[in-house]
Amino acid sequence: MSLTLDTPLDMHLHLREGAMLDAVAPFSAAAFAGAVIMPNLVPPVDSLERLRWYRREIARASQGQQFTPLMTLFFRNYSAAELAEAKPQIIGIKLYPAGVTTNSAGGVANLAEADETLAVMERLGIPLLVHGESHGFVLDREQEFLPIYARIARQFPQLTIVMEHITTRRATELLDQHTNLFATVTLHHLQITLNDLAGGLLDPHLFCKPIAKRPEDRDALLQLALTAHPKLMFGSDSAPHPRSSKEGAGCAAGVFSAPVALPALAELFAQHGALGKLQAFVSDNARRIYNIAPPPKQVTLERRRWVVPARYGDVVPYLACSELAWRIADVQPA
Ligand code: DOR
Ligand code: ZN
Repeated sequence: MSLTLDTPLDMHLHLREGAMLDAVAPFSAAAFAGAVIMPNLVPPVDSLERLRWYRREIARASQGQQFTPLMTLFFRNYSAAELAEAKPQIIGIKLYPAGVTTNSAGGVANLAEADETLAVMERLGIPLLVHGESHGFVLDREQEFLPIYARIARQFPQLTIVMEHITTRRATELLDQHTNLFATVTLHHLQITLNDLAGGLLDPHLFCKPIAKRPEDRDALLQLALTAHPKLMFGSDSAPHPRSSKEGAGCAAGVFSAPVALPALAELFAQHGALGKLQAFVSDNARRIYNIAPPPKQVTLERRRWVVPARYGDVVPYLACSELAWRIADVQPA
């Protein structure tokens, strides 16, 4: 049994830089036609000069595989002239509230001060991608941010707003309440709950921001994905960290899922009799929402068992050592 996906896209991806970029980019470049690249490097990607450099680095690390990096700038207050120049180079601008996650210290401390830039983005048609978490109690952070999404959606009705990596039932409900609100969801948040991370022996490789939530949250996300809700896109949030940053005290947040993302999604959708919805979830919805047409690539998955390695270099992948039922059998670039 096999399944061919047309132009699969990962709409939220961390590729890092330097040796880590070289180690991880080939996995995404092999499996996906393109990906939305997160700008939280140190320092962040917040100028066109740095963005062009990063795009070149990604192309080099992709080792000749056909792969379109859909670049984002790190949100700061940009001038109208900067935004106009940036528009053809970017798919959107990623906003992090200051300090909510890895490398976000330079994020927005006071959201009210973002309005002027948001107004220009709305006028120019530049989408806003948001890490929507408050600084509150860890399980409530996403829910506490939802009124801010609603406020921005109302205040800037023409602005495309993407709630990145949603993790709660409440966020799935908000999606239908504003026409300009969209969302990405990760593979791991369709599968795990807080119990998998911390219910038994602590599993640092499942620790990420936003943290995995309750079974009813996971089930609501899964329901939305399996029906390929038209406002929902796949975004892996694959976020590699070296073992030294994950396995000691002070564990870094991030789940490295790039090497298993498509096979594990195929298995999950097949288990629920929803394979027919995978194409929309991993590509069609994103192409329509962002109005993009990246160079096509056909990726064929087949039912064949394999065991996920314990490590890729110095990084432990999501589902390490477990058996998957599907694997990538063939990739045909355009
Ligand atoms: O778990 C996470 N890891 N969440 C984020 O928002 C950032 C990411 C990273 O860059 O490691
Ligand atoms: Zn992320």
